[in-house]
Amino acid sequence: MRLLFVGDVVGSLGRETVTTYLPRLKKKYRPQVTILNGENAAAGRGITGKIYKKFLADGVDVVTLGNHTWDNKDIFDFIDDAKKMVRPANFPTGTPGQGIVYVKVNQLELAVINMQARSFMVDLDDPFRKAQELVAEARKRTPFIFMDFHGETTSEKQAMGWFLDGQVSAVVGTHTHVQTNDARILPKGTAYLTDVGMTGPYDGVLGMKREPVLEKFLTALPQRFEVVEKGRSLLSACVIDIADNGQAQKIIPIQINEENPFREET
Ligand SMILES: [Fe+2]
Repeated sequence: MRLLFVGDVVGSLGRETVTTYLPRLKKKYRPQVTILNGENAAAGRGITGKIYKKFLADGVDVVTLGNHTWDNKDIFDFIDDAKKMVRPANFPTGTPGQGIVYVKVNQLELAVINMQARSFMVDLDDPFRKAQELVAEARKRTPFIFMDFHGETTSEKQAMGWFLDGQVSAVVGTHTHVQTNDARILPKGTAYLTDVGMTGPYDGVLGMKREPVLEKFLTALPQRFEVVEKGRSLLSACVIDIADNGQAQKIIPIQINEENPFREET
């Protein structure tokens, strides 16, 4: 099984970048399933029903979320009906939405789990124990398990990779918006990448306009951050090949930007 994962799509520029490059990426890599992190898709904060549907129309099979899940109030109107969306599984019990979803991939089934880290983030349920519980449940159905671990620190994400090595097909990180250079297959067969990076504005600070961010660093005064809506963009993603036993064989990190233009050939 080959899957394509697109990292944090930020604002309208991020969405346009997905619409532009997803068909080209699919043609080049031929993934059987496409997953995308959409937690910053609505002007950097959360996602709307309309945007969710557009992602599906663009060819996305599952949308993952993160700490901005609830930032756009539209989410409460559609999350319980959004069968192809996952929010962090370690949100408190009773929270709307689901933390794991199963998608059919030809005759097979892929479990997609979204989890949120805790270091320098809100104090959710323990992501490690929750992962253990969900992975045990998923493994009764399928050996194909993908996790988007949405977290701030490299250490917590790396620890999760080792924790789940051999238990899941892939653990990839999101949230920091900068792709790390450590894609690898862990010894027991789990594909790992600390952070996939973002998709959207190339010339901002993590997708936000530079001026208010700089002003905040220079003065420590509160500022209103806004997403960059025009200009150059980048796309960050990875492709993962998974063998029939659920073990990953290959992970290919992808960056498309002016320094690394898209090439049709592999
Ligand atoms: Fe985030």
